[in-house]
Amino acid sequence: MQKILILDYGSQYTQLIARKIRELQAYCEIHPHDWLAENINAFAPSGIILSGGPNSAMAAGAPAIQPAVFSAGVPVLGLCYGMQVMALALGGEVEVATHHEYGQATVHADHTASLFAGLPQEPLPVLMSHGDRVLRPPAGFTIIAKSDSSPVAAMADETRRLYGLQFHPETAHTLHGREILERFVRGICQVKATWTMSNFVTRETEVIRRRVGDEGVLLGLSGGVDSAVVAALLHHAIGEQLHCVLVDHGLMRAGEADEVKTVFEDHFGVNLTIINAADKFFSALRGVEDPEEKRRHIGRLFVEEFEAQARKFSDTVRWLAQGTIYPDVVESAGDGAGKAVIKSHHNVGGLPERLNLKLLEPLRNLFKDEVRQLGLTLSLPERLVQRHPFPGPGLAVRVLGEVTPERAEIARQADAVYMEELETTTLYATVSQAFAVLLPVRSVGVMGDDRTYDNVVALRAVTTDDFMTADWARLPDDFLARVSSRIINTVAGVNRVVYDISSKPPATVEWE
Ligand code: XMP
Repeated sequence: MQKILILDYGSQYTQLIARKIRELQAYCEIHPHDWLAENINAFAPSGIILSGGPNSAMAAGAPAIQPAVFSAGVPVLGLCYGMQVMALALGGEVEVATHHEYGQATVHADHTASLFAGLPQEPLPVLMSHGDRVLRPPAGFTIIAKSDSSPVAAMADETRRLYGLQFHPETAHTLHGREILERFVRGICQVKATWTMSNFVTRETEVIRRRVGDEGVLLGLSGGVDSAVVAALLHHAIGEQLHCVLVDHGLMRAGEADEVKTVFEDHFGVNLTIINAADKFFSALRGVEDPEEKRRHIGRLFVEEFEAQARKFSDTVRWLAQGTIYPDVVESAGDGAGKAVIKSHHNVGGLPERLNLKLLEPLRNLFKDEVRQLGLTLSLPERLVQRHPFPGPGLAVRVLGEVTPERAEIARQADAVYMEELETTTLYATVSQAFAVLLPVRSVGVMGDDRTYDNVVALRAVTTDDFMTADWARLPDDFLARVSSRIINTVAGVNRVVYDISSKPPATVEWE
């Protein structure tokens, strides 16, 4: 399969570059800028992209380009910092910044350059975010775009197929950014559009069958998108050899366990064991108010329950499947150590070793958008595939303070009303995550002629690209009014609803 290699110099946009390349149906991977030459050669890329980064290319010890990038003999595109290190490495001149340029700029591009071929003949609005700038390109390069503040806004050596852009084609703020990346990937690197989810299914099915042979695979289903898509993919690949286990901790969303059963057991015919462990979880949570302590109890119990079930399959099962996805494993120059960060979802860390099982992570190269696309390709219901994320500890971190079955039920019912309204108004798809939180305070109200002293529910909705930062969603007033009135009138024990207008940071998405 043809591939593009993205070498990461620590830009906040590196994952965005990868997502944009994948949208062009070209496969790509992100690796650290100092990835070993032998790795680069073994990867055999059809083209290399150097990301931006926070450093000054002129600073002592700044991350440089290794010779293997040029000796690979494939086209190279440097973006921002990537362009500056390329210019320096090949004998060009870079000027240290006196200030950081951030924001929209206009560049005048040379339309005879292959990166800009066929784009409208007009000034191009782009996103600039840089300190240093290239003053003089290396020998062999020509200047292919200029702006008022950047004498070399883009450069190209068409013979050696080396290119640099001072601006960021990966962001939506650069008009025709997608087309520019397409010129590079498709035109210059000649990568064909073969990265589709139906091709992925064909290829990955082969890989899974070869690896697993006739051995059994165990998978924990959570109701979330990632584990659901792993289940659908594995069922497609190995059918009866897959055993799914759902530990119902009594803290799931309304109807979630039933829905998993309907989709997987009834519709797909997947081997599914549902363990109803609500009583155990609620007893462990009795009197616990601290959020991290709640997480620890739930994590520990989840592992215990899952492990006990797993042992029942010990005759046939040799593999543990997990819904790890690419953003969880991508090696990033930004984290300093350059080591993979592994998802602690449901805290299954350590389980494969203890159970003596091999780990199967068929989604580990996919972005979330691709996981959803794959789910649809595998005929999972749209509703399940488009579902908002839900934290492993479930409603326990949405019932603030002590969690009791009664309080969890209030939170679940309020959330169900909110979700139903979001879905019927189609606002659901416009927000990244939304949920109801039961607050640990009571407030005074009046119902009919009676004074009430009851619970308060907070509604949360956020928009975000990556959950690292998030903005509170501006849901329409009349919508919020309807949800509030329905919750107060139908969920016993609630007499007040408030809307959370905090962004992250400084708040987090969840309240606990
Ligand atoms: P925060 O609250 O950290 O949430 O801004 C960011 C995203 O992570 C989810 N989240 C969790 N997911 N276990 C999980 O599996 C957890 O303990 C947990 N805490 C937060 C949260 O729902 C949001 O999507």
